[in-house]
Amino acid sequence: EKGGYDHFMLKEIYEQPRAIKDTYRGRLLADQGIIRMAGIDQNMEKFLNANRIIIVACGTSWHAGLVAEYIFEDLARISVEVEYASEFRYRNPVITDKDVLIAISQSGETADTLAAIKLAKEKGAFVFGVCNVVGSSIARETDAGAYTHAGPEIGVASTKAFTTQITVLTLIALKLAKAKGVFSESRYHEYLTELETIPSKVEKALQSNTLIEIIADVYKDSTNCLYLGRGYNFPVALEGALKLKEISYIHAEGYPAAEMKHGPIALIDEHMPVFVIATKKGHYEKVVSNIQEIKSRKGKIIAIVTEGDEQVRDLADHVIEVPETLESLTPLLTTIPLQLLSYHIAVMRGCNVDQPRNLAKSVTVE
Ligand code: F6R
Repeated sequence: EKGGYDHFMLKEIYEQPRAIKDTYRGRLLADQGIIRMAGIDQNMEKFLNANRIIIVACGTSWHAGLVAEYIFEDLARISVEVEYASEFRYRNPVITDKDVLIAISQSGETADTLAAIKLAKEKGAFVFGVCNVVGSSIARETDAGAYTHAGPEIGVASTKAFTTQITVLTLIALKLAKAKGVFSESRYHEYLTELETIPSKVEKALQSNTLIEIIADVYKDSTNCLYLGRGYNFPVALEGALKLKEISYIHAEGYPAAEMKHGPIALIDEHMPVFVIATKKGHYEKVVSNIQEIKSRKGKIIAIVTEGDEQVRDLADHVIEVPETLESLTPLLTTIPLQLLSYHIAVMRGCNVDQPRNLAKSVTVE
């Protein structure tokens, strides 16, 4: 059942090229310049007339929502707010019938997310679901939706659900960008064809596994870790830190790289590994200067870089390469080494990777 892998989590990490392809199969028709998604097409007016999109989710799905905020605002020029479902539902939020709410949930059963949907519907908002489990409560409760088609995710730590959620949300953003006329034909075409290359680029990113195992061995006994990223890769830093904490029980925090000097920099010394996402295009030079600041305080730097990078290689203690892609698609690649890293560290520490202590796969109570 684990398909020759030691754990479901590792199997699911390796399934991502296929899972991402399954997510866009039948939807992304790059050669015809079409993205086909019935749930969006049938409700296009609602999306185009929306004041804003509110995204609600928990945990890893909330991180996918944060990536989506960058994608929707950057590509489709639609204003987005991303909310923890638990906070949103209890703070008397302002919701009108001009709002579109997108709920993201792998299981489709998360209690707080479900309650947030019910609240938004009561207030007249149009509610769209992005779920993995077909026929789940959230899938049934929403007005329309798009499944991720990632296949069953058994490992408690979410991996392929995250990258496929980002894939679905990217398809939606591209459809809206096209419908709004904010994208030129050539830019639209560039995105569609690049998206089709992502599965093979994820495959390439997975080939760093042996190197990542070596790095995991160096840092497996750390008690604290920092994860930094900017722009599209800030949510990836949060996700990298969450993955490490939940399966290896090492304390980890993710931050936008520029926030480091507003506090976390005080933590940095020779015992602090700092994982920095430093891919080209995404404010690269600014991240390089953040890396220099860490280095001058003797922090250990493990950088995720674009293939062929030399500048960061000179500064970092370890570099892990990912293939080059469009900036907005980089989270689909930069996430991969961070998943593998937390997996190997957890295994080396003797942790129960697929069923970490105190955690459940679906959180049906608030
Ligand atoms: C993290 C993790 C959790 C879930 C969260 C939301 O690896 O698994 O943080 O992401 O409980 O679950 P869903 O997406 O099922 O609503």
